[in-house]
Amino acid sequence: MHTKEVIEAKRDGGTNSLEQLRHIASGAADGSISDHLLSAWLMACFLKGLAPREAADLTLAMAESGERLDLHGIPRPWLDKHSTGGVGDKTTLVVLPILAACGITVVKMSGRGLGITGGTVDKLESVPGFRVDLSPQEMLAQAGRIGIALTGQTPRLAPADKTLYRLRDETATVESVPLITASILSKKIAGGAEAVVFDVKCGSGAFMKTEHDARELATLLRQVGEIAGLRVQTLVTDMDQPLGRMVGNLLEVQEAVRVLSGGGDPRFIELCTELAGAGLALVERGGTQEAKHALESGAALAKCEEWFLAQGADWDTFMDGKVPLAPEVKVVTAPRSGWVARLDAGIVGEAALALGAGRVSPGAAIDPGVGIEILAPVGTEVAEGDALFRVFSRQRDKAIENSLLTAVEIQETAVEASAVILSPT
Ligand code: URA
Repeated sequence: MHTKEVIEAKRDGGTNSLEQLRHIASGAADGSISDHLLSAWLMACFLKGLAPREAADLTLAMAESGERLDLHGIPRPWLDKHSTGGVGDKTTLVVLPILAACGITVVKMSGRGLGITGGTVDKLESVPGFRVDLSPQEMLAQAGRIGIALTGQTPRLAPADKTLYRLRDETATVESVPLITASILSKKIAGGAEAVVFDVKCGSGAFMKTEHDARELATLLRQVGEIAGLRVQTLVTDMDQPLGRMVGNLLEVQEAVRVLSGGGDPRFIELCTELAGAGLALVERGGTQEAKHALESGAALAKCEEWFLAQGADWDTFMDGKVPLAPEVKVVTAPRSGWVARLDAGIVGEAALALGAGRVSPGAAIDPGVGIEILAPVGTEVAEGDALFRVFSRQRDKAIENSLLTAVEIQETAVEASAVILSPT
């Protein structure tokens, strides 16, 4: 097959066939199609779009481009959970133990953070001993035994995505919703998923900035997922303010465990139980009430301990608070009295990145102990001089503290925080 003909068909607004898309995906995976041809095809897709059936064919072709994880042999139902990423998003650390405590098997590949978006793998690595490099055999054995296994992404699953994602980044075609959909779903299918609950985030700290764009992605994830043979549920959720109270790797694991232990931020707890409930409903094993029960009874905390221990974590050291945070702690205070009306997640994410909690380029090192505690979320009444943030750093940086102040808008009248769940499922 000639790649030029595949590009021509898309350039002229036609539909690429499954065979043509397999040609593209295998050529991207094995390097037999040059970057310039793939880039031309990506731009044609960006400009002309892909129909849901075509995006599903691309998804399947990309999923077939490498190895696939075969979950047969471990107990059903299997469920995966995916977030499009945000600031302070430690939801996976709470939702997975809830699901496993409810009898669901979760085998999950998670990414590392990039830019202002944190990665679950980085967060878990802040706990001494926690292994995120499980082999497929170890993943399956552990998931079969305790109901949860989580590891880092391997380039052996859906390798076409690695090439296509790099080229999308270089050619300004990342934002194509069908290409995003195929990228996300192909990795889920290659990882053996049958059912996935998606947290599609929207706002200043998310990939999708507007509710319109987030809803478009959620709809296409559902449509394309179902054509490709997955059961899919989506929640569109707020990421205009950071999620929960902590932003930073170790700080976020500590916060997740606090929630599993019965404390924590109500808005964050609502998101976790709604997501877990939507997942349980998707595999016909209950809903939000069952999720809440698993959380409130302590069953999810027990499952979390089992999970951390199974992956090598030093649970006792972590729980005893012996893993150190960065030593320099500074408080940022309110410049005037009033109500916190805005707390820009994008700006808080940039500040955390500048502290070293995130990475600017793939492969860069991060600092697990730095981060930001949010002391006055949207809706809080503050007096001048009250604490807004606690900043954990290696060395004081006034510029970062000043930038945090630009994230906050204080108004004279009372304000309520917006809902965390923006759409019904
Ligand atoms: N996440 C992915 O895995 N792929 C995209 O294209 C965007 C976000």
